[in-house]
Amino acid sequence: MSTPTTLSIRRPDDWHAHLRDGALLAACALHTARQFARAIIMPNLVPPVTTVAQAVDYRDRIRRAVPADFGFEPLMTCYLTDGADPAELARGKQEGVWVAAKLYPAHATTNSAHGVTSMDKIAKALEAMEKVGMPLLVHGEATDPEVDIFDREAVFLDKVLAPLLKRHPGLKVVLEHITTRDGVQFVEANTGRLGGTITPHHLSYNRNAIFKGGIRPHFYCLPIAKREEHRLALRRAATSGNPAFFLGTDTAPHTADTKECACGCAGIFNAPVAMQVYAQVFMEEKALDQLEAFASLNGPRFYGLPANEERITLQARPLEAPERIEVPGGDKSIVVFHPDTPVGWSF
Ligand code: DOR
Ligand code: ZN
Repeated sequence: MSTPTTLSIRRPDDWHAHLRDGALLAACALHTARQFARAIIMPNLVPPVTTVAQAVDYRDRIRRAVPADFGFEPLMTCYLTDGADPAELARGKQEGVWVAAKLYPAHATTNSAHGVTSMDKIAKALEAMEKVGMPLLVHGEATDPEVDIFDREAVFLDKVLAPLLKRHPGLKVVLEHITTRDGVQFVEANTGRLGGTITPHHLSYNRNAIFKGGIRPHFYCLPIAKREEHRLALRRAATSGNPAFFLGTDTAPHTADTKECACGCAGIFNAPVAMQVYAQVFMEEKALDQLEAFASLNGPRFYGLPANEERITLQARPLEAPERIEVPGGDKSIVVFHPDTPVGWSF
């Protein structure tokens, strides 16, 4: 079968995005809105988004950062802390503000210091979410510093997520940014109540890329990329047609100075290239016919939302995207993700 010169699919959504705030929001929001109709907005601001009022204000700031004709809809999430209030969760869901709540195990990643120290502390909150049908979005990494960084996802599934699913049988869960075959298998074993998102970068490279020719901070994110066998498992899952797997970019901008330093931040800014990179991966896997399901249908179905009616068209020509974007009001910039391997799609 020859490669098509264009690819038209329903407009996709991003089920996991960090849009930040202030100058970074001004620099980045547009790039997500250009590609996606809706995005699940991560709440790991400083301070985190824990109340309905904070989420409403943040949603307004996001809407102001994107021209209205983009027709972009931010879907807000609540950052769970040990003190998460079940009533606030239920109220925000019923008022149409929260779409989901996010579990960051404390100290697992960027801005997770206020995260959850033990699942016992949020049992009441999770019961409230079960009742109102509010999905739990999970950063699935064990936080015990003794656990090897490359094993943290697998250990979390075994020690934390499996017991949590048993304890809350009515809770829908998204295992976010899966990076391992273990993660894929865990989602497959719980299809129906469990979804799994997959990023463009975890589909594009394995852990060798982080160290190729020296340490490369713009390939560093959490969960960290794993061995090649895991990347291949992710590629099989994303292109399989299994509705449990859907798109979540985990676009996570940090200014270049905070990544290119002695203790650089985790996070990859992929919003300007996301659909182009996904299309490349699906083409390499000879599964372009599955891209629409992964990018535009499976996510809405999981969340009980309608799929978008508009369409986008990708062009089969070499990727055109800037190396970096400038942050307004200063001299800082954000490096844009570019895989080491060629991308033959533009947008
Ligand atoms: O690499 C990451 N960056 N992983 C996360 O979980 C958080 C994110 C961020 O906010 O920068
Ligand atoms: Zn994230």
